[in-house]
Amino acid sequence: MNIPTTSQAVIEREQQSMYQVYRRLPIAVQYASGCRITSVDGDSYLDFLSGIAVNALGYGHPRLLDAVTRQAQAFMHLSNVFYQEPQIELAELLVQHTGYARVFFSNSGAEAMEGALKLARKWGNTRGKTEVLAFTGGFHGRTYGALSIMAKPLYKDGMEPFLPNAHVLPFNNSETLRDAVNEKTCAVVLEFLQGEGGIVFATPEFVTTLLELQEQYGFLIIADEVQAGAGRTGKFFGFDHYLVKPDIVTMAKGIGGGLPLGAILMAQHLETVWDKGMHGTTFGGNPVACAAGVVVMKELYGGVMRNVHEVGCYLRENLNVIQQNFPNIVEEVRGCGFMAGLKLSVPAAPFIEALLKRRVVANATADTVIRLLPPLIATRKEVDEFVIAMQDCFKVYSEQENIN
Ligand SMILES: Cc1ncc(COP(=O)(O)O)c(C=O)c1O
Repeated sequence: MNIPTTSQAVIEREQQSMYQVYRRLPIAVQYASGCRITSVDGDSYLDFLSGIAVNALGYGHPRLLDAVTRQAQAFMHLSNVFYQEPQIELAELLVQHTGYARVFFSNSGAEAMEGALKLARKWGNTRGKTEVLAFTGGFHGRTYGALSIMAKPLYKDGMEPFLPNAHVLPFNNSETLRDAVNEKTCAVVLEFLQGEGGIVFATPEFVTTLLELQEQYGFLIIADEVQAGAGRTGKFFGFDHYLVKPDIVTMAKGIGGGLPLGAILMAQHLETVWDKGMHGTTFGGNPVACAAGVVVMKELYGGVMRNVHEVGCYLRENLNVIQQNFPNIVEEVRGCGFMAGLKLSVPAAPFIEALLKRRVVANATADTVIRLLPPLIATRKEVDEFVIAMQDCFKVYSEQENIN
């Protein structure tokens, strides 16, 4: 269907029919290819958000499209009543590359976290371990279990009550963690590399404390790798940047390459906690999504993760230069690989608008952080394009405000 329209016309229709919970960019998209999005108005944008870390292989990747098309022609859905090759192949690849023992597929990151919490509780209940701990700045999804281990009032206020026995502690604070952990601690949930929280990474000292406490009290560590995982930081998991092996890992976003897919990976000692029927889903592990996941895995290990590392270093060098050029606006360069952030001394939202005017899409998070999540196939040339636009935004701003 190719109805002549404008972004403005589409926006008006959306406002008349859809629940207004999203702060959308004022662009209605017609088409996307590689790292570029084209609006219905005919404008082309460089996409440094990639569907919030989802479109790992960019848009229209030929091998991904081919696998998805072929799978859709074979069957699009069967339910988990049947054995289906794409699920098994993807699970095998995940097991082989990560060393985890078993995989459970869901549709989303929040659902993966719900499953992870249930698995941990089931494990803990027979051991008298009932408490779940998590950290400020963590984002785990919009379902009740996930919200129960998050702090931000915007996501929770007025929607109480949440799960009991769940506590949110200050991130990267070893002392409060030490005070909170005891024999009753069932699980500690964390994003080792926080995304929504503003591209904030766990300090090595904090991780060491966590591991020492685990050794002492024997709780489970659940790593939320929904955003940082699937190669985004140049390693398969974000926590691969530390010497740690969590008991449970949640994934989603990039692993489906653009289709809804989540996964829970678990260590061998947990593979018999659930009996048949104790957990499940109708759509989770959809064969088309899993076929896409297989291609994502093969591409990641076939060179894409190396690209993230190399071009990610180049991006970092360029962000450092931007910081040197605008030290009064850019307080800190954060992140690694293609999970990067510029922590500003001022709100980030106006710069997202300014970037958009220069035909670049990025995102603001934690109020003052410009978050960059390019497709994992982004090139140096695309980084250059972003850097020119970003520098120009800061230049115009500093001239207007008379700073730097
Ligand atoms: C780290 C992390 N965990 C969980 C989620 C929730 O994933 P979903 O939106 O697929 O439910 C997100 C989403 O942004 C996330 O960034």
